[in-house]
Amino acid sequence: MRAYYFDNIPGDQRLPHDSTRPVAPETLAALKVSSWAIPVEGHEEKLNAIARERGYKNRDTIDVSKAGMGPIYEDKIKGFFQEHMHEDEEIRYILSGSGFFDVRETPTDEWIRISVTPGDLLVIPEGIYHRFTLDENDNIKALRLFQDEPKWVPYNRGPDTDANPHRIDYLRSIGVGA
Ligand SMILES: [Fe+2]
Repeated sequence: MRAYYFDNIPGDQRLPHDSTRPVAPETLAALKVSSWAIPVEGHEEKLNAIARERGYKNRDTIDVSKAGMGPIYEDKIKGFFQEHMHEDEEIRYILSGSGFFDVRETPTDEWIRISVTPGDLLVIPEGIYHRFTLDENDNIKALRLFQDEPKWVPYNRGPDTDANPHRIDYLRSIGVGA
């Protein structure tokens, strides 16, 4: 997993958009973004241990590819790229393919781009603004882990979402806001 500041240059979201300013693991930790590297070969045991420890009882698999989806692919990935938050953690373990999770750094409001490849387990906290895109390989297969019910409703960024208690709790947890 590699993280860097997004360059904000207009163009295809699937391009790396690497500003060449790296982001240190401590910066991600301060934003409450967690990650582990678990080799795909034989991942079950280690993944199950982390899932048990953190109370992720359930999981399913998501498989997104240009080849598999045809014409709706472009619209679909534009949807993933809308800035939003959730009222629960978003947990992904990459089985194959690759992509980019962008998370908003607060209070700078800069995008941090996290490049994920097979073996990456990424936990994005509830209340953080983020978005996702596939890269130019146009395919990713990932496990989605969750606790009881999946809470994957995206709340797009805006004044209403800024006032969401989960957003406010998140800001408090990173020491921003009251
Ligand atoms: Fe999300």
